[in-house]
Amino acid sequence: MTAGLDPVKVMKQEVGKAAAERVKSGSIVGLGTGSTTAFAIQFLGERLKSGELMDIKGVPTSFQASVLAKKYGIPLTTLDEIDKIDIAIDGADEVDPQKNLIKGGGAAHTREKIVDSLADVFIVVVDSSKLVDRLGSTFPLPVEVLPLAVTPVMKAIESLGGKPELRMGVKKDGPVITDQGNMVLDVTFDAIDNPAELEKTLNNIPGVLENGLFVGVANIVLIGEIKDGQSIVREM
Ligand code: 5RP
Repeated sequence: MTAGLDPVKVMKQEVGKAAAERVKSGSIVGLGTGSTTAFAIQFLGERLKSGELMDIKGVPTSFQASVLAKKYGIPLTTLDEIDKIDIAIDGADEVDPQKNLIKGGGAAHTREKIVDSLADVFIVVVDSSKLVDRLGSTFPLPVEVLPLAVTPVMKAIESLGGKPELRMGVKKDGPVITDQGNMVLDVTFDAIDNPAELEKTLNNIPGVLENGLFVGVANIVLIGEIKDGQSIVREM
């Protein structure tokens, strides 16, 4: 089934589709950021176009999500215009067995945390490479920082035992600038023993806007896997 196809892409596509299938007509939908969620947005658009799904509105978590929503014909709304978000679909960089996450590989974690936390149901869509026993084992923790505070925040993070690196642009000289006009530190910790405590400690440093630890936010984790050459989706 996957012969000749990139297996990671196939897993992302299938899990994105599975999440999009859970959206019901009339819903307000949080639209996450990243390559996996991009497939979910595409399938939501296809369901709308076919008439199988009606009357949904998306709340984008990034410039990328709003561009994709427009491309696939999903009407958008804002947090000022709605009372609640019914369902959010978003990717992750790491998922632990308690459904805690590291997010922010696309530098969108601040808006993602706002939207995903407001959803009645937050579905995480990942391929199986994102599953870890302990957060921070494969992916550094993204921290969004106001530009003027980058140096003191780096020092404060070092005093907590983290090794921060300013995220640099690709095909752009200088640092990555977020949709909010800030910068991102990617922080390596020897071990993240208590994600809930670290999430709060980091957000307490003056100049930090938000970090990529999502503790107790995810309700459902859908995992795309390849088994015996077949692509399957399972729920954690
Ligand atoms: C963006 C994110 C993404 O959801 C995360 O990086 C996963 O991306 P992908 O689906 O491309 O692997 O947190 O800030």
